[in-house]
Amino acid sequence: MEDKKQIHSVCKCLISTLIFLQWFECSTAAKGSSGGGEGKWQLLLNNTGVVAMHIALTHHNTVIMFDQTGTGRSGYRLSHRNNGTRCKNTGSDLSDSSCYAHSMEYNIISNKIRPLMLETDPWCSSGSILSNGTIIQTGGYGNGYRKIRYFKPCDESNCDWKQSRTQLSHNRWYSSNQILPENDRVIVLGGRRAFNYEFVPKFSPRDSSFDLPFLHQTYDGKGENNLYPFLHLSSDGNLFIFANRDSILFNYKQNKVVKKFPQIPGNGSRSYPSTGSSIILPLDHSDGFQKVEVMVCGGAASGAYTAAKNGRFLEGLRSCGRMLITGEKQKWKMEDMPGPRLMSDMLILPNGYILIINGVKNGCAGWNNADNPSLQPYLYNPEKTEGRRFSVLKSTKIPRMYHSSALLLPDGRVLVAGGNPNSRYTFNGVPYPTELRLQAFTPDHMDSKFYSRRPQNVSIYYSSGEEGVGYGGEFGVQFWNEKPMEVEFSAYAPPFTTHSISMNQRMLRLRCKSMFRSEDGWANALLEAPPSANVAPAGYYLLTVVNGGIPGISQWVRFIHA
Ligand SMILES: *[C@@H]1O[C@H](CO)[C@@H](O)[C@H](O)[C@H]1NC(C)=O
Ligand SMILES: *[C@@H]1O[C@H](CO)[C@@H](O)[C@H](O)[C@H]1NC(C)=O
Ligand SMILES: *[C@@H]1O[C@H](CO)[C@@H](O)[C@H](O)[C@H]1NC(C)=O
Ligand SMILES: *[C@@H]1O[C@H](CO)[C@@H](O)[C@H](O)[C@H]1NC(C)=O
Ligand SMILES: *[C@@H]1O[C@H](CO)[C@@H](O)[C@H](O)[C@H]1NC(C)=O
Repeated sequence: MEDKKQIHSVCKCLISTLIFLQWFECSTAAKGSSGGGEGKWQLLLNNTGVVAMHIALTHHNTVIMFDQTGTGRSGYRLSHRNNGTRCKNTGSDLSDSSCYAHSMEYNIISNKIRPLMLETDPWCSSGSILSNGTIIQTGGYGNGYRKIRYFKPCDESNCDWKQSRTQLSHNRWYSSNQILPENDRVIVLGGRRAFNYEFVPKFSPRDSSFDLPFLHQTYDGKGENNLYPFLHLSSDGNLFIFANRDSILFNYKQNKVVKKFPQIPGNGSRSYPSTGSSIILPLDHSDGFQKVEVMVCGGAASGAYTAAKNGRFLEGLRSCGRMLITGEKQKWKMEDMPGPRLMSDMLILPNGYILIINGVKNGCAGWNNADNPSLQPYLYNPEKTEGRRFSVLKSTKIPRMYHSSALLLPDGRVLVAGGNPNSRYTFNGVPYPTELRLQAFTPDHMDSKFYSRRPQNVSIYYSSGEEGVGYGGEFGVQFWNEKPMEVEFSAYAPPFTTHSISMNQRMLRLRCKSMFRSEDGWANALLEAPPSANVAPAGYYLLTVVNGGIPGISQWVRFIHA
């Protein structure tokens, strides 16, 4: 059936002058019949050395992870400290934090780790990835409150963290970071006792922090509930800021609230320590990337923080809210997940489905504040009718509690790491020990049974001499496609992830201007880059060819300010 339809559409588009080339429509509708199903879990490493509290993918296909530096022992002991002195087998050295690694680089291909050095504490910090692929990381705790660090990824295993001499204006512990359309400028917003935001680099050398009354208004006193605000760049250049239960559209250049959105329904909060999660659904070329829809899922029950301190772990929120933040009328459309959930990661998969993974059913974030791990990922198909969007995927055996993380890899797997609800690395005598095992979750659409539908050997071509493609420009994608179906092309900004927030995560469905296919299965598509840096801040994106809902292996494409 499928094949007949396909042949028909091929014939419809056949251009008779091209005998060996068959022209295809560049279809963009997500018609993939698959994408649901069970998935597979794989144990990659027993010991990542450090808890992957923070995690980021680089365009060198390495993954940077880091924890706090003040934990004492980690799972990776160093022979020498950062300052060159030896780590001896004496009692004090065996528990000295500086004799242990607190950051690691994981190589996806070799499945190996390598220790990295941190000068100061990046605990509960934030970050973005700049246009040249360098990670910028902002803030932390104690001696790291105001620090800015860079990590320039490499192939040769000789790159490491570099701390900047420039400092932040304010302490940034539990703040959020978003890359802005201006080349290589980020905003760092909120944090504990930080009801303001600042830019790195600053617009003017005289700038410091800017007060944001919204952060005062959403502050819950002892339970806080407005840390790690959800931060998204809308395609109109404004920021969507969500804290606790409220959200605004914010013009950061004028320090002006453009719009106040209605409060999200549900008896509880969504931001840290209630720790729901938030994404923007895939942006689409068909509406000029104008339609921006936010989705917030899970969170903690009202009063969960105080209850947890008294040993009671309240059931988390099961609702998700979707809201179009562009256009005139705004309203949260609510729907329920298959169960209560918080401290989960939300990832946009290349076929536009949303994966909800990790986290718990009860309690809230913070040391030992939660119980009942959510072992089953959920898959959400935004395009199905309400009530039919969620499916429950294969269960893992490893709880991923507070300080766990997840990340989409170029090969379509999802890396799952970390988890430590204890203030130290603790392996015995606690309900949820420190978790150093590294897993990969393989969504069903990456299963080998879809081999014939999976686009293979994807490569990207720019105009000669270019290192990337400018806004509105064209680039070529060649791939091999044994069984052509409707093909879409997605570009995914890899996030900096911590505390259930994938900062800067966004996905765009790109316009295909033309595509032809030779008889031997090779296809060549001409794609259009996003129109502006508001739609897609400059940098490296994962380009994925999706054939009939089945993604191929992603390749890096770079959008540049031409
Ligand atoms: C992890 O440890 C277990 C138990 O020692 C062992 O059976 C398994 O092979 C190890 N797995 C990996 C990926 O190292
Ligand atoms: C090296 O670092 C350790 C631990 O912070 C400190 O005790 C020691 O004094 C330092 N040594 C030198 C030579 O800087
Ligand atoms: C990337 O950009 C940052 C910020 O402009 C700069 O500090 C860094 O040196 C650049 N890295 C490379 C590899 O060019
Ligand atoms: C909200 O939840 C709290 C406990 O989490 C409960 O005490 C309160 O009655 C609930 N309020 C409503 C309106 O359901
Ligand atoms: C795709 O690449 C693989 C590995 O590089 C190669 O073995 C295979 O022959 C290629 N497929 C085609 C159709 O060229």
